[in-house]
Order: sequence, then C-alpha cells, then structure tokens
Amino acid sequence: MINKARPVLQESIRDMYHALQPECLMMADLGCSSGPNSLLVVSEIIDIIDEERQKFNRKSPKFGVFLNDLPGNDFNAIFNLLPSFYQSLKEEKGSDFGPCSVSGTPKSFYGRIFPDQFLHFVHSSYSVHWLSQVPRELESSTGEALNKGNIYIAKTSPPEILQAYYAQFKRDFTLFLRSRAKEMVPGGRMVLTLQGSIQRNDPDSIWELLGSTIQTMVLEGLIEQEKLDRFNMPFYAPTVEEIKNLVEAEGSFSVNKLETFTVDWSVDTNQNLETQARFIAKTIRAVTESLLTTAFSETAMDDLFLRFKIMVKERMVQEQSEYLNIVVSVTKRD
Ligand SMILES: C[S@@+](CC[C@H](N)C(=O)[O-])C[C@H]1O[C@@H](n2cnc3c(N)ncnc32)[C@H](O)[C@@H]1O
Repeated sequence: MINKARPVLQESIRDMYHALQPECLMMADLGCSSGPNSLLVVSEIIDIIDEERQKFNRKSPKFGVFLNDLPGNDFNAIFNLLPSFYQSLKEEKGSDFGPCSVSGTPKSFYGRIFPDQFLHFVHSSYSVHWLSQVPRELESSTGEALNKGNIYIAKTSPPEILQAYYAQFKRDFTLFLRSRAKEMVPGGRMVLTLQGSIQRNDPDSIWELLGSTIQTMVLEGLIEQEKLDRFNMPFYAPTVEEIKNLVEAEGSFSVNKLETFTVDWSVDTNQNLETQARFIAKTIRAVTESLLTTAFSETAMDDLFLRFKIMVKERMVQEQSEYLNIVVSVTKRD
C-alpha cells in the first residue's frame, strides 16, 4: 500500500518543502506500528527532502520526527532500530545533514497529540480506517445486539448498521482533522492512505468472510452464538465521496489529491493459491487477533485461522478479491 501511495507522498512532500522551507522540519507518522515499515516512510520522506535541498543547493533542515501509535504499541522495538537508522543517515547523507531526532508519542490520534502550529508534515498509512470504538448504536437501547451473525457491514445487515458505522467514522475522522488542524502550520501537508469502499452499502468482503468462518464454528458449538452476535469490528472503509465531504465540512484543509488504487488481497498474485491464502490469513490474523481473542478465546484462534485460510482459498478459485484503497493529500489552510 505504501509503495502504491508513493507518487502522491513524493509530490506532497516536495510541494510542502518548497513552499515552507522550514529550518527545522517537524513531521509525524500516525499509526506507525512497530516493525520495518515504521522507519521506512520516515526515511523516504527524509530522502526526498534531502534530494530537493541538494538540487537547490540549500542547507539541510533539522528533522524532528514523531512516531505515534496507541500506548500498547511496542515503541521499544522501534527505538532499538534507531542507532542503525541514525548511522545510515550519517553515512548516506554526510556531515552537513540534519541532525535528525526521532521520538515516540504514544496517544490516540483521535484527539490532540502535539502543541499548536507544530507540524509541517503528517503521514498516516492504513490506520485511519480503525475507529476509536465499535459504534454504540450497534446495540438497541435495551441492549439487544443489532448486527447478529455479522462482524461488520454485511449483505444481511439491516440499514441501521451502515448508518451506525458511518456516524462513528464521521465523529472520529472529524475529530482527527480538527486535532491535526490545530497542530499543523498553515501550508503544512498531510497524506493519508486508508482502506475504502466503492459505494456506501458495499460490504467489506474480507470481514464478511471472517464472519462466515466464525459462524461455522458457532454451528459446531465451538463459539457461542451470543458472542458472535455481540462482536463487531471497530473499522470503517469510507467512500471517496465521504472523505471529500468530511474534509470540506470540517473546513481546515484543502484537498490536493484524492485517488483510489486497488491491491489484491494476497498482494503477490504470482504465488500459488495455497501460499496466497496463507499470506492473507496471516495478515488478517496479525491485525485482528487481539480483538478476537478478547471477544472469543485464545484457544479458538488456530482453528479459526486455519478454517479462514481454507475459505479464502475457496473464494480465490471463484473470483479475484481486491482491497480498494484511498490516498488523500491535503494542505492546511491559512
Ligand atoms: C495496520 S497498522 C499500519 C502500520 C503502518 N502505518 C503501515 O502502513 O504499515 C495500523 C496501526 O494503527 C494504529 N492505530 C489504530 N488506531 C489508532 C489510534 N486511535 N491512534 C493511534 N494509532 C492507532 C494501530 O495500533 C496499528 O499499529
């Protein structure tokens, strides 16, 4: 996803750098996770700026890099990579570069993280489709589960379910924009990549397939029906129109680019079906296991994801399945 969003990212950084030419460039990656991707985007951003400043024979800015995620994220794993990251910057860019200093900011991005007018650039990849909470409206006022048998908006979900999910996304995304609007300097840029939907009532099929897998375990008495009925993903994949309307309604940013691109569920379709299905099951397990363990039980997980892999493989024989992704680049208004 990061590779596919790269052209928009590059253009946005170049424009920001030339427009603002900050002496000390402050940037944040929101939902950085912990692993090789956490520093990948940061080093790309630095590379682009360093290339531009050399082209125009300018002094290197100092870099303040803020890696953000929820407090439970393994920030220490990233910090352990920093000595070699700093060393490679020194070797590649020479002594007149930077300096660059990387910090961790553990806090939800749904709310303020940074001081006023602090950031020149904000990046977030594959994070903003995670909601701050499961929409409360998925339960009736008497506590009855309303999205029975599903874990997200599915073909059999009643219309209130879509409305409840959209209402939660609207609240969260507006708070996200409002918070960043306070933290960014006028002319600052932000690039967000997130999962999207083609149309509003388009059920997200990977969650539908995961829900069906859990249902097979319910039918065999391995998971309680009540637990499935009460479980819903804290996730929403908006449409391009919804993003455009919410950015315009919040009012602090102008949209420079709003594009979509697709990526196959397995990313690499050259592999055989078994390898692709295993990869898909692993990636979905990586992002959902902690939620599913809390809702069901840890002991169900191996069985669940083995069944899921088989269902994914069966689906792949019938049709090609892709994620739709949205990349949006915005500028903070004056
Ligand atoms: C799929 S990972 C994306 C990691 C990385 N940005 C990438 O593109 O490979 C999503 C990350 O968003 C983080 N996240 C979800 N909700 C968040 C929130 N409200 N505030 C901060 N981080 C959040 C998760 O903890 C997770 O690390």
